[in-house]
Amino acid sequence: MSRIKPSKEEIQRVKDATEQIIRRINEKAREYGIPARAICVGSVARNTWIRGEEDIDIFILFPEEFSEEELRSEGLRLAKSVASEYEERYASHPYIHAFFEFPVGKNEEEKRVEADLVPCFAVRSASAIKSAVDRTPFHNDYLKERIKGLEDDVLLLKQFLRALDIYGSELKTMGFSGYLCELLILHYGSFINLLKEASHWKFGTRIDIEKHGTYKSEGKEPLIVIDPVDPKRNVAAALSTFAFCRFIDAARSFLRKPSQRFFFTEAEEAEMSKEAFLRKVKERGTDFVMLVFDAPPVVDDILFPQLRKAAISVRKLIERNEFVVFRHDFGAEGGKAFLLFEVFGELPAIQRREGPPVTVKVHAERFKRKHLALNHIVRIDENGRLFAEFERKYRSVVELLSDKRNLLGCSLGKHVSEAIESGYKVLKNEEIEFFEGIGKFFKRYFSSTVSNDV
Ligand code: UTP
Ligand code: MN
Ligand code: MN
Repeated sequence: MSRIKPSKEEIQRVKDATEQIIRRINEKAREYGIPARAICVGSVARNTWIRGEEDIDIFILFPEEFSEEELRSEGLRLAKSVASEYEERYASHPYIHAFFEFPVGKNEEEKRVEADLVPCFAVRSASAIKSAVDRTPFHNDYLKERIKGLEDDVLLLKQFLRALDIYGSELKTMGFSGYLCELLILHYGSFINLLKEASHWKFGTRIDIEKHGTYKSEGKEPLIVIDPVDPKRNVAAALSTFAFCRFIDAARSFLRKPSQRFFFTEAEEAEMSKEAFLRKVKERGTDFVMLVFDAPPVVDDILFPQLRKAAISVRKLIERNEFVVFRHDFGAEGGKAFLLFEVFGELPAIQRREGPPVTVKVHAERFKRKHLALNHIVRIDENGRLFAEFERKYRSVVELLSDKRNLLGCSLGKHVSEAIESGYKVLKNEEIEFFEGIGKFFKRYFSSTVSNDV
């Protein structure tokens, strides 16, 4: 517990810094004559951040009557005015990631404080929001008192999920958000009880803490946790089926044999060397084909859904050309983005295409004429169906993917499509470059995503 729970000093330092930032924002607002006020939300407001991972979330509330444009310009101006340095960032909504220098903390490192400063509207209720972030202050009001006494259980859950790589609702991870973690602990009462219940979860499990009962699911979501402050919203909407199932599996393993190793994955996350990778390739008897290009300059929340979609679309292209894909994956590391396909060998020089039965006159005649005109062999099989034999266009996945037209016919997503358009490489096995981050990627590729409890 002491490895994940912030120390007294850390709590003091973070709280002091938060108060100072809020005070500065409120002073500036008064100075500028802007009717706005700052509040602390998220894990810092509720003492549920992981040791050393403090993330100060400060929301600046504006009157509902303000326009989107006013919120944006005044909000960002106010946020920028208090920071010593800042970066302008966009989620679904523009905000400022600010850096401060404070005379708190023992060393230089601790004097530097970072915080997210997010302008939002002070709406009447969480179901009357004007922008996506307006719900957050309501989440804070709802949890602030209720989560008291359960903070340690929230931390255990967050760390358990971090070790499994399924913490965070960003579209790269598609895991459990911090707010979802707190609601799950609140609902089930403890970390252990949550694991016990989760080990029996079924697809479509529904949790409705405030008994709103109104949320309608389209049946695509593995988990439905109705937002206590907004009955129309599923807090687990961004959770993938993979993350849902990985959690269920790990919960069962943990209950069978509880251990610290579920929380700390030690040095086993080491990089895989290129030699070790090539040994694996040989052992498996498959070919690894990687399509690499410069990562388009967009945020992960935009890039990863496109990579996910592109990988599936290119996989279908490969399969349409009669290759067998054992597995596919994708990633973005060190300025590069890539799609990876583990495939089986080469195909023969000829290809066979099935046609209609001879007895279906119009179709049979059309099939025959078309293929004979191309100098293909056309035969009748033992069931009376036509089939044609002809020369195959692509005998390897590398050839198939090296032809740019084939790729651009896939649905790749706007930015990935543009990046590929301006150049890409198709590399196989030993040609695959071990650029920054690839060793880690392959380390994960070759390991189980279920927990080993034996
Ligand atoms: P954070 O992503 O910073 O999460 O969102 P957190 O709860 O503070 O947890 P940490 O930082 O990982 O420890 C801050 C708040 O924004 C809202 C929630 O109210 C959350 O508490 N939020 C964020 C959502 O409602 N949904 C999201 O997907 C993300
Ligand atoms: Mn946070
Ligand atoms: Mn944050």
